[in-house]
Amino acid sequence: MKIAIASDHGGLKLKEHLKKHLADKGFEIIDHGTHSEESCDYPDYAKKLCRDVAEGKAEKGILVCGTGIGMSITANKCKGIRAALCADVFSAKMSREHNDANVLCMGERTIGFGLAKMIADTWLASEFLGGRHARCVNKIIELEE
Ligand code: RB5
Repeated sequence: MKIAIASDHGGLKLKEHLKKHLADKGFEIIDHGTHSEESCDYPDYAKKLCRDVAEGKAEKGILVCGTGIGMSITANKCKGIRAALCADVFSAKMSREHNDANVLCMGERTIGFGLAKMIADTWLASEFLGGRHARCVNKIIELEE
């Protein structure tokens, strides 16, 4: 599976950690930066990653900033994106099964790397359940029109 990943300076270390972890597990990773600790603007990176996911160049995306909040606010403004800010494994699973989230956001300054890996693994392994949940997701999609 092809996964896009991106961060700002506040999420760089966790992004690099997740990139290696997911590549070791066999995922193909598209890294949209940032690549240095120099201060940068998270919307620029969220925008690039969301374009990939919306256009189908990557099946899913993972965004990291200091809290994950800025990335999730930005990503949810992009057409075709349902971004879930997760700090626990249960929400990660539900965001796939109920909300069909296609972008996962996390905060490097809010959770440990071990938990972040577990959240990413759970999120990537979980499938949308459809059924009654599809009705809600379709209503979200309608709001984009
Ligand atoms: C950068 O200092 C920080 O504001 C950013 O990474 C993020 O937490 C914003 O939501």
